[in-house]
Amino acid sequence: MDNRGGFKSKFGLIAAVGGSVVGLGNIWRFPYLAGENGGAAFIFVYIVICFLITVPLMISEFVIGRSAKTDVVNAFRRLTGGRRWEIVGYVAIISSFVMVSFYSVIGGWSLDFIKEAVLGNFTGKSSSEINIWFDSFVNSGTMPVIWSVSFIVLSCIIVIGGIEKGIEKFSKMMMPLIIFILFGLFIYSISMKGFGDAISFLFKPDFSKITPKVVLLALGQSFFSLSIGMGTMITYGSYIKDKVNLGKLSSTIAITDTSVAILSGLAIFPAVFTMGISPTSGPDLVFITLPSIFAQMPFGYFVSIIFFILLFVAAVTSSISLIEVLVTYLRDEFELKRSSAVIITCCTVSVVSSFITLSLVQDSAFTIGGMSLFDIADKATGVFLLPFGGMLAALFIGWYYGRDKFADHITNNYTVKLKESIINILYFIIKFVAPIVIGLLFISLL
Ligand code: TRP
Repeated sequence: MDNRGGFKSKFGLIAAVGGSVVGLGNIWRFPYLAGENGGAAFIFVYIVICFLITVPLMISEFVIGRSAKTDVVNAFRRLTGGRRWEIVGYVAIISSFVMVSFYSVIGGWSLDFIKEAVLGNFTGKSSSEINIWFDSFVNSGTMPVIWSVSFIVLSCIIVIGGIEKGIEKFSKMMMPLIIFILFGLFIYSISMKGFGDAISFLFKPDFSKITPKVVLLALGQSFFSLSIGMGTMITYGSYIKDKVNLGKLSSTIAITDTSVAILSGLAIFPAVFTMGISPTSGPDLVFITLPSIFAQMPFGYFVSIIFFILLFVAAVTSSISLIEVLVTYLRDEFELKRSSAVIITCCTVSVVSSFITLSLVQDSAFTIGGMSLFDIADKATGVFLLPFGGMLAALFIGWYYGRDKFADHITNNYTVKLKESIINILYFIIKFVAPIVIGLLFISLL
């Protein structure tokens, strides 16, 4: 298909890829993981892994996508001329499907939280009151389902517009808004009593806190945060122009993503320390701890509205990238119209997402072996599917695609200046380091 469209401007491309990487991973997952795992020590390991392993993997995914110029499944067929590697594409399709179904549950919560914040329902509430309210909200079943389906429908409406007029245009408006809001929250938090404590927590590493588990979590988080391992960057890569410098793009994106993650830590932790709360509240940090802090602090009413709008916007710009993986597949593989592909995706994702949402209701039938579908989707993606997908992409470039083609492609046939030594290091990481590190991770899990 030649009329696939693509990213038009440089800023649009950075905004769209940036929109994909900046999401719940930065604002919800990163702060609570850092909080639970020693703050600065976790952040240190995270940054090292991000630039050492995850960025080369991002480049690999872009190379696969851009050189094949088609969806994740056909990309492997086209590049190999056979069907042996297409399994990697199918893994990406399944992963993206599970991920977006799970992601939209939380995206749906953010919508409800905007509503509660606007109605002032958090004002004056203690954290245990908010906890009870949150439990009953999740347990009610119907409301969370309505919110997560709304979240999916909203995302699909953007995707229907296509790459340039939908995803790129929307991200160009939303990325600046995300950064602007985060900066505003950060400036506000400087005035808080707990700011100093937050700074030491986030930036003074206690290296004795670095354990294998911390490394593992940091690796998983860097994949999650940089949208690696589910074919998102393969799909987006297929819409990137040949003249774009993929190495530069990937580094810019990684720097942006890490800055946003740290900025959201800086926006969240001063409030946590000011209120004398432990930073280790886990996944509840953003949905229970923060609202209860907002409830007590000056201007909390406005801050809570702004914060949940931020969470929602960041989540949508990411979910559209996951949906696009599925839509591009349906279009390129079955030659469907974009609108039909989006409608099929929207309906199937909504159904699965509803089951996942309902699995959180007490005594829900949607459990497997005592685990809710929500927990299964969370663990399956974070712990298994992301690293697995990332490893397969690395193995493909390292052991099938080969150094020469890789070098040709990232230098755009030697029109982009890149030292041979850098190419060698990158290729070495992709061929050996990344698969081995991820392999060790799996072994340590067993
Ligand atoms: N990176 C996004 C976040 O931080 C989530 C995301 C979007 C993602 N697409 C992905 C994660 C693909 C893994 C793979 O919230």
